[in-house]
Amino acid sequence: MKNTLELVQYGPVIPVIVINRLEDAVPMAQALVDGGVRVLEVTLRTSIALQCMEAIAKAVPDAILGAGTVRSPADAQAAKDAGCTFAVSPGYTSAIGAACVKIGLPLLPGTATGSEVMQANADGLLFLKFFPAMQAGGIAMLKALAGPFTDVVFCPTGGITLATAPDFLALPNVKVCGGSWLTPADAVAAKDWARITALAREASALRA
Ligand code: 3PG
Repeated sequence: MKNTLELVQYGPVIPVIVINRLEDAVPMAQALVDGGVRVLEVTLRTSIALQCMEAIAKAVPDAILGAGTVRSPADAQAAKDAGCTFAVSPGYTSAIGAACVKIGLPLLPGTATGSEVMQANADGLLFLKFFPAMQAGGIAMLKALAGPFTDVVFCPTGGITLATAPDFLALPNVKVCGGSWLTPADAVAAKDWARITALAREASALRA
């Protein structure tokens, strides 16, 4: 992958995944892939996240594996070493942008304001996460950003659900959205992989 914009071809939703038990990593990833969701963002929010990425990269070849919550150049390198093919960051700095370019790891950086969008654009990034989407102004803010930033495409993430995703996906400057609703904590705790496959199927059907 050269650019994270390539991710949009695989479907309308990127699950944002937090994994607390290593044993859950592969069956959870497989359950999502079985439901038609191939692009997975595994967040660096737990101590076993890198091990989970390694396990998924090895055992679920159809997954397009990315690292979320990448906050530093060291995070980006560790994610790449663990087998991730893209990175997602909650915010943007030119340092993280340059580090990802240097190691050849396409970045989907978080932005929430015009200044952040401009900084990312200045560094050559035109596909941006809009985070935290609901808290930072939701649909109205994305519509407002479409005015000046005519060539920018967003992946809103944060507070989006199956019910609200279609409204985001209907915006011309949104090609995909992210969220944690595909991997509910109670389903994971119960190892209810069939439910996760069903949630993935619903999410992949949101837009053809
Ligand atoms: C996150 O970074 O946690 C994502 O934005 C997911 O947010 P959500 O849990 O509100 O979907």
